[in-house]
Amino acid sequence: MTYLALVPAAGSGSRMGALSGRALPKQYLPLAGQPMIRHALTTLCATPAIAHVFVVLAPDDAHWPAAAMATLGPKLHVLRCGGDTRAHSVANGLRAMAGVLGERMDIGNDWVLVHDAARPCLTVAMVENLIAEVGEDNAGGLLAVPVADTLKRADENGRVRQTVPRDGLWQAQTPQMFRHRLLLDALDFAPQVTDEASAIETLRLAPRLVAADASNLKVTYPLDLQLAEWILQNRGKPCR
Ligand code: C5P
Repeated sequence: MTYLALVPAAGSGSRMGALSGRALPKQYLPLAGQPMIRHALTTLCATPAIAHVFVVLAPDDAHWPAAAMATLGPKLHVLRCGGDTRAHSVANGLRAMAGVLGERMDIGNDWVLVHDAARPCLTVAMVENLIAEVGEDNAGGLLAVPVADTLKRADENGRVRQTVPRDGLWQAQTPQMFRHRLLLDALDFAPQVTDEASAIETLRLAPRLVAADASNLKVTYPLDLQLAEWILQNRGKPCR
């Protein structure tokens, strides 16, 4: 069984930039002494089961720190084929990775783990647990956490319209893993989705939810960057 990782990193991080006034795309913001994206790439390259790690950049990306990334080793491949949306970036990457691995006949049945560049606190153990829990389930799966808070639906005036029962609700994270051909077909069929699992669901398949924890957060707003820094620097230390 072959496992490949794909990291879409062609976003501009406008929600982060709008609040922080920074022009640097968020995946390159400094975090615990490295560009943010390097943390997730380090974890994926260090996962023994993963054969290759592909990162998808915007074609005009001028910030990719090639020298700092070279130390991650030969598993890492750079694809400059990002699209207008995350789904387009992933679909373009899926097509381009087949070209890079061209010596092999068909990667359609290989597993692809798609992971956000903006989730820097991923661990090798989380990746290995996802791979083990999904196993050979052709619907694939994703890391996720059960919703802990009570959820409110707002009206147009910012007042509560409805309380939404949280039973059975999960927050989707990444990695999300699916077979290469199935994921590409699903994204071509449903290009408007915001995550890969949603595309698979449009094919009436039910990806497996694999319990993770809140430390695998997505950095979206400036405060998230401070939280991620704390997690990376305190991981493994006993809670006080
Ligand atoms: O903006 P958001 O945090 O939802 O982006 C999730 C991931 O998708 C990030 O890693 C971002 O760089 C990537 N992305 C992309 N191409 C886009 C938009 C987002 O690769 N056009």
